Amino acid sequence: ELGGYEDYMLKEIHEQPAAVQRTLAGRLDAGGGIDLSESGVDLAGIQRIAVVACGTAYHAGLLGKYAIERLARLPVEVWVASEYRYAHPIGDDRTLAVAISQSGETTDTLAAVETARGFGAKVLAITNTQGSLITRESDGILLTAAGPEIAVASTKAFLTQVAVMYLLALELARVRGTLPEEELLALGRELRRIPERIQETLDLVQGRMGEAAGLYEDARSSLFLGRGVSYPVALEGALKLKEVSYIPCEGYPAGEMKHGPIALVDERCPVVAVMGRGVLREKTLSNVEETAARGARVISVAARDDADAARLSEVLLPVPELPELLGPLVASVPLQLLAYRVARDRGLDVDKPRNLAKSVTVE
Ligand code: M6R
Repeated sequence: ELGGYEDYMLKEIHEQPAAVQRTLAGRLDAGGGIDLSESGVDLAGIQRIAVVACGTAYHAGLLGKYAIERLARLPVEVWVASEYRYAHPIGDDRTLAVAISQSGETTDTLAAVETARGFGAKVLAITNTQGSLITRESDGILLTAAGPEIAVASTKAFLTQVAVMYLLALELARVRGTLPEEELLALGRELRRIPERIQETLDLVQGRMGEAAGLYEDARSSLFLGRGVSYPVALEGALKLKEVSYIPCEGYPAGEMKHGPIALVDERCPVVAVMGRGVLREKTLSNVEETAARGARVISVAARDDADAARLSEVLLPVPELPELLGPLVASVPLQLLAYRVARDRGLDVDKPRNLAKSVTVE
């Protein structure tokens, strides 16, 4: 079953190119044109979106927010599901609730769906599990095609959730006419090539993970930093590492460092910087520079030829260059491998971390 891999987590990380490819198949044609008519929800009249999800799925929701707001100019709130149900959320029948859940059985997410239905929202479920409870509570379903995910730490389900959120953003942009068609198609074509880019990333970083994990030998904690779309990547990287290695980790927007967390920084608190592209790359660089000046050992996820990132960091985990919005689909991959490697180096059971269950069916 493990097909030569030592654990499910590693196997599932390596299955990501195929998982994303299956998820995009039939939804994106060779020219970048999109077809999401299967969603079963009329997207034309939607005025706001509330994404509800837990854990890793919540991070996929945050990435979806960036994509939908940027491409389709529709306001999106993203809620941790357990907060949503008690928050007296605002919405009506022109609200689309998007519930993301690998298992489709997470009690908190199901309860948030019920809350949204209570004020008349349409519900779209993004799930990896056909026939799961959430599919019965929703008006429409978009399945991710990750295949069974066994490891408690979610990896391939996450990337397929992000891929579906991007498809949804493109579809909303098309329906709402918020982007020139050529731009939409170009993004669609880039998205279609993502499976190859994920494979390229796996190949690029493989040889560097030992060195990166070495920085955690006597680490007491770790900070993951990013800005813009790289911020949810940092959050997900921190969640992954904490859940499998038990090292306290925090994901932070890099610009917030000086407002508190920089106090944590010393040589036993490795800083992982997700550089991203565009204007925010430079801002991130200078935020990370401040941590390096205070003794932090830095790992960066950056373009192969990013000389500034290389200068700042002890280890550079290279990722292919992509349009800024799509970068998270590759930048997340080295962070999954980092979590895996650090936990393995500590002799831990990566597939079944202590205190955790694969699906959380209690409130
Ligand atoms: O099955 P779900 O996607 O609803 O599960 C949500 C979270 O419990 C899950 O993502 C959890 O955070 C993972 N252990 C993260 O790796």
